[in-house]
Amino acid sequence: MTNDFAQHPVDETSAASLAKNRLHYGLVDVSNRAAFANWLQADSRGFHGPTLSNEQVDSNFAGVTYRRTVGVWDESLTAPNIPVATTSSWAEQLTVPGGLSIDAWAISSVTVSPTHRRRGIARSLLEGELRSAADMGLPMAILTVSESTIYARFGFGPAVFASDLSIDTQRATFLSSERVGTVQHVSADEFIDQAPEIFERIRRFTPGQIKVWSMRWDQISGLVPGDEEYTKKTRIVRYDDDNGTPRGFVVYRVTGGGIDLTNHKLTVDYLLAENADAYTALWRYVLEVDLVREVRAELRSVDEPLLWQLSDRRAVTATPVDHLWLRILDVPVALSARHYSGSAVIGFAVTDGLGFAQGNFLLETDKAGLPHVTSIDDFPAEAAVVELSVSALSSLYLGGVTVSSLVASGQVRENTANAAVTLERVFHSPTTPWLSVWF
Ligand SMILES: CC(C)(COP(=O)(O)OP(=O)(O)OC[C@H]1O[C@@H](n2cnc3c(N)ncnc32)[C@H](O)[C@@H]1OP(=O)(O)O)[C@@H](O)C(=O)NCCC(=O)NCCS
Repeated sequence: MTNDFAQHPVDETSAASLAKNRLHYGLVDVSNRAAFANWLQADSRGFHGPTLSNEQVDSNFAGVTYRRTVGVWDESLTAPNIPVATTSSWAEQLTVPGGLSIDAWAISSVTVSPTHRRRGIARSLLEGELRSAADMGLPMAILTVSESTIYARFGFGPAVFASDLSIDTQRATFLSSERVGTVQHVSADEFIDQAPEIFERIRRFTPGQIKVWSMRWDQISGLVPGDEEYTKKTRIVRYDDDNGTPRGFVVYRVTGGGIDLTNHKLTVDYLLAENADAYTALWRYVLEVDLVREVRAELRSVDEPLLWQLSDRRAVTATPVDHLWLRILDVPVALSARHYSGSAVIGFAVTDGLGFAQGNFLLETDKAGLPHVTSIDDFPAEAAVVELSVSALSSLYLGGVTVSSLVASGQVRENTANAAVTLERVFHSPTTPWLSVWF
């Protein structure tokens, strides 16, 4: 995908429906700093963020204006230039099973001012985004969510889950005492210079990851203005293997302490490890820092190897949360974009209230797991057939959700005996899907 998407006009159906309520739906002119600043302040207000400083506006102006930046304006207000609703979207590459990726429409900054809530503005925005994405030929939309109650109605389903970890350092002892490589503190600039390349190698084999845009690396390492406390507290440690090659980083902060200096909390803001040695060494590092009682880490995988490395896995309290939501727009393209485990013939009867994915589709995979997908009227007798919503299919897509669980919960119906077993066998991803950032 090129950056052409940024100027794709807003959806006419949504524009017409908002216009009926005297609201104007349009693209923000992101070459105009003042117009962008109005949009950005509305976005920040929408998430209960602060009024942003000039420096913060500048860094966002430099960092995110490559995106398609959309607003809704109410010209009857005394400040008509500040949008009452916002979205920002761009074409992403989402990693899928098989070390492949699919083009996906990433949607972010969905806000509607509290003064204009529950009048259908978000619905117009979301449906508009989906129609625009389909119009641009994108087979899927993706987003991370503030609340898990909002997006299923638009056909999204949770597909990548994350774990927030709280680790009691007094109980967290490694089973193995083997140590290889070296760890050392490095500067934010070194991190910015080296981490994206390592991440790029990890991303390609981890379903659920997306490309991380450069401003996000700046944010992780504390280089963006606006959160001085974060910037001051952030420390970065790099792991080098025995040949001296950087293989991972941990970005962390130590806070708290008080009168009892042993009572600090260490927060892992990002941990990136290219191989098992880097992973173990970086976790060992954070768990062994002196004067720390608790280590916290957000957005970790729901399948962290760390739990298997500790003598007491109850040292870790893991709180799972839905993280990445997917919305398939084009079923044949989406199903053809990933690889599967072995051969099967599977029929999907998909329902979609918005129409994009509605229909019957046949997925045939060969022994190597390569797919062939067709849109059909009737399923052949040998097909394992399931009936499901586009939201459930989107949840299953990356192979991190158990099919039997969706059957038991009524989200997937087996139209042929044991269809779920076949689906599970070929869909399951050997690498647990994980997404390490919000967007
Ligand atoms: C969430 C938000 C964008 C909704 O905007 P809105 O214009 O009030 O939403 P709409 O009026 O278009 O509602 C559309 C549908 O979603 C439902 N809905 C809206 N917000 C919801 C919420 N927070 N939880 C559950 N359902 C919600 C509405 O009931 C409506 O349902 P229906 O059409 O199926 O009957 C807005 O409340 C907001 O900006 N919240 C704060 C920022 C935020 O959390 N954004 C989401 C980021 S992922």
